[in-house]
Amino acid sequence: MSNLPVNEMGHLTIGGVDSINLARDFGTPLVAYDISYVKKQIQKFQQTFTDANVKGVVSYASKAFSVKAIYQVIATLGAHADIVSAGELMTAIAANFPAANLSFHGNNKSLDELNLAIKYGVGTIVVDNFHELELLDQVLTEQNASVNILLRVTPGISAHTHEYIQTGQTDSKFGFDLESGQAEKALQLATRNDRMNVRGIHAHIGSQIFDVNGFIFETKKLLSILKKWQINLGFKASILNIGGGFGIRYTNEDNPQKPEDMLATILETVKTETDNLQLPLPEVWIEPGRAIVGPAGYSLYSIGSRKDVPGLTSYLAVDGGMGDNIRPALYQADYTAVLAKAPTLEPVEHVHLAGKYCESGDILINDLSLPQTHSGDVVVMLATGAYGYSMASNYNRNPRPAVVFTEKGNSKLVVKRETYGDLIQNDLDY
Ligand code: LLP
Repeated sequence: MSNLPVNEMGHLTIGGVDSINLARDFGTPLVAYDISYVKKQIQKFQQTFTDANVKGVVSYASKAFSVKAIYQVIATLGAHADIVSAGELMTAIAANFPAANLSFHGNNKSLDELNLAIKYGVGTIVVDNFHELELLDQVLTEQNASVNILLRVTPGISAHTHEYIQTGQTDSKFGFDLESGQAEKALQLATRNDRMNVRGIHAHIGSQIFDVNGFIFETKKLLSILKKWQINLGFKASILNIGGGFGIRYTNEDNPQKPEDMLATILETVKTETDNLQLPLPEVWIEPGRAIVGPAGYSLYSIGSRKDVPGLTSYLAVDGGMGDNIRPALYQADYTAVLAKAPTLEPVEHVHLAGKYCESGDILINDLSLPQTHSGDVVVMLATGAYGYSMASNYNRNPRPAVVFTEKGNSKLVVKRETYGDLIQNDLDY
């Protein structure tokens, strides 16, 4: 990828820190984040709201990368965060993230999870289904509490990368169905409940979305529903939450619209449509995960063995793989990688960058162009910050990597590398 930062030695730098030094000081495999990227992307979203003169909330979808330190970074910018489990909740709480700025998502929140959410003062529950309405009522009654909620609906749009489809009848597992009147029924139930303060509507149409069309369609659809709810039930929404999904560039072939440009167009649509429909301008909430942490993350590996298949191909194996980044194996996701010591050197060969896991499918990158490499060289995979570490596993009993944050030339370890002791800490003798 173009414009990679290098230092005077020609080494790739991450947040101003020499990537060779990161590998030396923290070991490999290692996940390194350039934290100024995270901050800048959030600020770009926030600035877009300001420029459009629309009240907005950037709620970081923490499933993309959920560790204490990232909640602390998000909190310094006044941004909110989404959580989807009690595990993410307790991580955010341990990080002293303001619970009032958390939104709790999920299609099957348990009684325990809802209990914890209310106990810790989670600001918004995004209610997904009728079962949850019942559980939440039970929890609120038991704790003598009340809470803000959004109703998640299935808008009949599915968007991925540069395509979006209008599905009419949608078969998503998430949210209240619109066509059958379920969403309106849910709204009636919730507005009648004194402990639930219904603040608005939520939808999420997909992930890694490259152009704004799907979002525009979604926005218009949600606003038309709000109009219907206003007419039929006298309901006034103060929040329109359009979800996340802003796409990022993994390789040179990817050409997404800039997330903040998509947001600007969405906000224009919100203003015109609310005007047309004579609706009050709601607060607009967005839930980007990938766009905030994806490009900020780098995976550092050391090259070990090499297998040349004469006349065919070569496998270059690294000390990580599908355990720290399942996306290539799971979604055939494409990435690119560079040599830490010479990221801009002309490539001389194509290799498959293979992981160390016992599966033929554990190939991190197919047909990667690289300069001459040697065992021990550090190779850096780019844009691995979203859904990499957060989806990591201990497959083959490999410890999860360490995570380091870099910023302005400094580095700080934020997650320790797992030890072999960690791997067996819950195992009992038989
Ligand atoms: N809001 C909701 C309700 C979501 O379900 C998601 C992602 C997001 C926000 C954030 O979407 P983002 O801005 O990160 O695209 N593991 C997959 C991605 C799954 C996304 C699930 N929901 C991957 O690695 O591509």
